[in-house]
Amino acid sequence: MSQVRRTVYICDGATCGLAQCRELAARVTGQLGIGMNQRTPDGMISIRSLRCPEHPAALPLLMIDDDRFEIDDWENLERILARMKSSFGEYA
Ligand code: FES
Repeated sequence: MSQVRRTVYICDGATCGLAQCRELAARVTGQLGIGMNQRTPDGMISIRSLRCPEHPAALPLLMIDDDRFEIDDWENLERILARMKSSFGEYA
C-alpha cells in the first residue's frame, strides 16, 4: 500500500461560508483531481478540510502539512500546487 506524502488542508467555506473558501476548495480539488477527504491513486497527496482555525479571516487558508498559506490570488495557488506536485520538496 502506498504512503501519503503530502496532506493539503483547505478551509472550504463549510464553517463560515466565505465564498473565496468555496472557490479555493473547488480549485484545489479540480487541480489535484480528487475530492475532499480523498487521496490521489498513487497515494502521494490527500486533501482534508480545515474549520476556520483562527477566523473569520479575510483570505482563505491552505496548509500543506505544517506550512500555512493565505491565498491572496489564484495564480499564487497554482504556483504553490505546481511546486508541491513537481518537487515534493521545497514549495514555499
Ligand atoms: S471556511 Fe471560514 S475562513 Fe475559510
